[in-house]
Parts: sequence; C-alpha cells; structure tokens
Amino acid sequence: MAQKPQCGLVFLSKQIFFVMNTPKRYLITSALPYANGPIHIGHLAGVYIPSDIYTRYLRLKGREVISICGSDEHGVPITIKARQEGVSPQAIVDKYHSIIKDSFERFGIAFDIYSRTSSKMHYETASQFFRKLYDDGVFVENTTQQYYDEEVKQFLADRYITGTCPHCSNPNAYGDQCEKCGTSLNATDLISPKSTLSGSAPVLKETKHWFLPLDKFQPFLEKWILEEHKDWKTNVFGQCKSWFDMGLQPRAVSRDLDWGVPVPVEGAEGKVLYVWFDAPIGYISATRELTPDWEKYWKDSETRMIHFIGKDNIVFHCIVFPAMLKAEGSYILPDNVPANEFLNLEGDKISTSRNWAVWLHEYLEEFPGKQDVLRYTLTANMPETKDNDFTWKDYQTRNNSELVAILGNFVNRAMVLTHKYFEGKVPNVDSISDFDREILNEIPKLKKSIEENLESFRFREALKELMNLARLGNKYLADTEPWKLIKTEPERVGTILNISLQITANLAILGEPFLPFTADRLCKMLNLTQTTWENVGESVLSAGHQLNQAELLFDKIEDETVEKQLAKLQATKAANESATKKANPQKEEITYEEFSKMDIRTGTVLEAEVVPKTQKLLKLKIDTGVDQRTVVSGIAEYFKPDEVVGRQVAILINLAPRKIRGIESHGMILMAEDADGKLRFVQPNESVANGSEIK
Ligand code: 2FM
Ligand code: ZN
Repeated sequence: MAQKPQCGLVFLSKQIFFVMNTPKRYLITSALPYANGPIHIGHLAGVYIPSDIYTRYLRLKGREVISICGSDEHGVPITIKARQEGVSPQAIVDKYHSIIKDSFERFGIAFDIYSRTSSKMHYETASQFFRKLYDDGVFVENTTQQYYDEEVKQFLADRYITGTCPHCSNPNAYGDQCEKCGTSLNATDLISPKSTLSGSAPVLKETKHWFLPLDKFQPFLEKWILEEHKDWKTNVFGQCKSWFDMGLQPRAVSRDLDWGVPVPVEGAEGKVLYVWFDAPIGYISATRELTPDWEKYWKDSETRMIHFIGKDNIVFHCIVFPAMLKAEGSYILPDNVPANEFLNLEGDKISTSRNWAVWLHEYLEEFPGKQDVLRYTLTANMPETKDNDFTWKDYQTRNNSELVAILGNFVNRAMVLTHKYFEGKVPNVDSISDFDREILNEIPKLKKSIEENLESFRFREALKELMNLARLGNKYLADTEPWKLIKTEPERVGTILNISLQITANLAILGEPFLPFTADRLCKMLNLTQTTWENVGESVLSAGHQLNQAELLFDKIEDETVEKQLAKLQATKAANESATKKANPQKEEITYEEFSKMDIRTGTVLEAEVVPKTQKLLKLKIDTGVDQRTVVSGIAEYFKPDEVVGRQVAILINLAPRKIRGIESHGMILMAEDADGKLRFVQPNESVANGSEIK
C-alpha cells in the first residue's frame, strides 16, 4: 500500500480544517449514476454540483486535477427495467447513458471523462481487480441457500422476490426491504414468497459465492477513519462509526445473474460481480480510458482522491471500496468523502418510480438558458448537513431577489454607466478615498473566505460570500451615487466606475465555479480572457480597456411559470394516487330486472346557479329529451355554474323527486369519484341526442 505523506495539519475547529501542504494532483470522482432512468435535481444538488464547483475551483487555482464519472450500468434494477419494457438491459443502459451524459454536458458539469461500466475497458479492469484479490486468497468462498425459480431456471435476486412482510403484513414486500414499514429484510424472512418472474413459489437451492471479509479489515479501517480522518463531515464519520460499532461482516461480491461482469474464475458460470464491487472500479476504468498515465492518479501518494457521493453511498465508499483498494495493495485511499444528505421536492421525497422529481432533461427544455439559475438555487439549498427541500417558490425568489436584484443589477449598472459616461472604456483611477479603500479591502477577505469554505466543502457558505461581493458592489454604487456626480466631478465618477468594474471582474472569476455560464457571459461582456483565481484583486482590468456591450444576465421569473410547474407536480400526485388507490369492493349482486328499472338518459345542462346560502349545491335546469326539469346536484365544490352549462350529462330521470333546501329535485346526475374524492362528469364519448337511453 502506498503511504500518504505526513500532512502539515492545522485544526481550527472540527468544521474548519486545513491541509496546509498542497498535493501534487487531485483525483475527483462523482458517484456513477445508475443508467436505469434520467437524472434529477436531487442528483445534481447531492453530488454533481458540489463536485463540479470543487473541480472548477481547483482548475482555476491552476492545480492538476481530473474529474471522473460515468454510468453505472449493472445491477438488478436495470434488469428489472429491461424486463418491464420488454427490451435488453443493454438497450436500457444505452438509452439512459446518453440522456444522462447529455444532461451533464448541458448543465456544464465539466467531467474530464464520462464513461460507462459496460465498456470493454471496464470489464477488463474489474476482472483483473477481482482476479488479483482471488489469486491473493483475499476472498472467502461460501455456499449458501438462495431462492431459485424452477420455472424460469434462475436464482432470484432479492428484488425479484415478493411476499408478506413479517413485521407489518404488507403483502407486497420485497426480498430486501418492505417499502411500507421500511424494515430491511432477507428474502427468507418473507412469508409466502413469490417469484416476480413467473409468479411461482421459489425453492431454496445451494449456490457458491465469493465474500470480501470486511471483518478482517475492520481494525485497519477503524484506525484509518476514526483516528486519521476526524476531519470528515459529521454525517460521514458518524455513519462509519456506527458500522464499526455493529461490527463489519463478510459481504458477497458475486451474484447469480446474467447481466454484469462475469466472475473471472473457473466454475463461476452464470455468476457476475456484485454491482457494488464493480461500480467503484468504474472510477479506475474511466481514468485508464482517459489517460495512459492513469497510475499516477491512483497509485501515487501525492495524489489527493476525493469521492463526491450521496449519503446512501457512504458505506461503499468509506468501507467497502477502501477495503478492496487496501486488499489489492497498490492503490491510494480517498482523502475525503464529502457525502451530502438528500434533497426533497416540495416537502416530499424525490422518487423516480413515483415520478416525483424535476428531471434535468425536462428542465433544459422548459427553461432554456437557465442552467445557472438552477445551479444557484441548488447550491444555496445544498443538503450539506441535513436533508433539504427544493420548492419552486424558493427557486423563483432566489432568481428574482438574488440573481436579478443583486448580482444582475450590480453588473448591469456598472456596465451601463461605463458605456454611458466613458464610451465603454475602463476609466482611470483618480484618487482613492478611505471609503474606496475599505471597499477594495473586502475583496481579498471575501476571496479567502470563499477559498476556505470551498476547501472544506461548505459550498452554501462559499456561494453566500460570492453574493456578498455583489452586495458590496451594490452598496458601493448606492453610497457613492456616481450618476449625481457626473456633471461636477467626472474624475471621481471614473474612479467609482473603475472600482465597480474591478468588482465585476472579480465576480466573473470567483463566480465561475458556481455559475459557469454567467461567468462566461460576464467575461465576454468585460472582454476578459484568460482568468485565473490568482488574478482576483483590485486591478483585474487596466484603465483604457475596452468593454463589450452590456446584456442582462438574468431575467425575472413570473408567477405563472412557477404555477405551471406546481400544476405539473399536482398532476403527478393525482396520477400516483389513482394508481395506488384501491377500488371499493363490489356491491351486492342485483338482477337485470332491478337494473332495468333505472331510466338513465343523456341530457344537456341549460342553466346553472349556486343554491343560495350553500357551498356545495348547484341548481340545474336540464333538457332530458323527455322534458326540461330541475335537478339539485352536490357538485358546486368542483364546478362553477358557467363550467357546467352546455355540458352533456348522464341523468337518472325516474328517481323519486326529493326536496333539497326547499327546491324539488327531479333526478340525479351520474358522476365518477376521482382518487382524491373529486367528482367528474360521466358523459358520452360523442355527442348524442338528449333523451338517448343509457343501458
Ligand atoms: O447509488 C448509485 O446511484 C450508484 N450507482 C452509485 C455508484 S458509485 C460508484 F461506486 F460507482
Ligand atoms: Zn413491513
């Protein structure tokens, strides 16, 4: 195992922790997303935006860095999806790999490579890795009993078995978890297990697997994390500690499945590597694909490796993968694993299966050119220490009150005034006042604060400091009021605008990691090329430098835009509810004669009004074909009178008359009750003559 160099460490507090010596290079990895669906805002906020901000920052600092990602294309969910859609697993991963890759590119997530685990390079790398551990005698072979479907002649992964949960009696629990009570299960815990492939009852059959003996690695891992990595985020450190407290157990690294990297040993036909064994090796394969010089990133102790992940991946990146790397012997271990918590959407857990998400590919279509607005909102709300919520209202407020009103407004004023008073040329500094100096002194302070926050993975705080620079610019213009001085003190106005433009240029540099599209536009407006983090300071632009035309960086997001998104989510909720709502059981049987006594006709609503002093009742005048009559109906909660007039309805006309609120009602309109209790009209598919019998 390559040794890490002794770092010069300075503890400021548990949260603020600096590593003083600069590593030679950085290897940044971002969790490989499963290629069984598109990606959503939860993925971006949890993993890819933080990794992108961090990577961009390091690049701007001139550090040697590569950022690695790719699609995770194995595992049971992919085979399930393929079966559901009646296509091959390869077709599924091809489809989603390209959707995901495209979304990342369009959001400016600047990986050096976005690879995939179905690549030849990955098969080769993962097989070699397994084989090395196998040859070194690291694995423990074990024969266990597993459910087998005799009809389709296949061992069943946990997700392919359903049955009754022994804890809550949910009849649809999975072999690994009951989604109703949340208990994690073993397939053998289920009562009356059933194969989802054939519907038959599975039988237990012996099968051999290879296990990584994590228990043997526990002393090493405990020392490495609990003693040497006290600086890791509290959530990460805490999860690792509780795994250690429970005692690590051997973990099977092979599966009986026909989709994945085949286990590269004799007698392993029909077995593949467990997806969590092969996926992290995907980081290595992708690096090999990127550069022939890949070993310096993975095997040189002067590389600092950082894994960006979500909290559900902590155990794999902090315990399983490091144990694998340690067992292999020639690799470095991660220096940090800054895992984030989860992002919710409008108060509810984001879910692919319930379609409760803001999908990136849809956002890109519906909000063209607004990638940075989403990047900004997600960074400002990043679930760094606890789960957080994305709401469309907050998205709108962040855009209108922060990006438009603070950042956009300041930049626009500085640019427009320079064009107006100085023909778009950066004016000279005449003389610097104490107030100017105070303002200029803030720039290095903010820069330092942004750096410290970024180095310790506090992205929200770093973004706040960036916005504080824009706030400072606004305050400076508001306090100095150059528009009032232009006639009397044009030199002073020159100084003020020079300082304002320097702040603008600093915003372009410091803002690049967070808002890369905006920074790019700002650089173009400022006619600024070749910026680095070290340029940040009080004289980025020289006097006389010609600016380009100003354009607005952000525009207001209107209420109706947000309402449209909320309506879309509402429709998803309704669709989910009706999909899960159980129909009421059938009523008692009746004879045909009993049914035929009911005289149901089509009719048209001629008039409608709310029954005075009621909220639920509408008084309707209906042409039934037989006559025109009055019907009182309890639909006022769902329909306004003018939404009802002219509609064709189904009406039971021989119901005995009844007095409702003093009005005699002659019949009843037939309505269907929605999943959420809303009433909907039952009406003929095509218009038919009033009085047509419904039978
Ligand atoms: O949780 C997930 O989405 C996994 N596909 C992450 C894998 S990360 C790495 F190990 F590849
Ligand atoms: Zn249960």
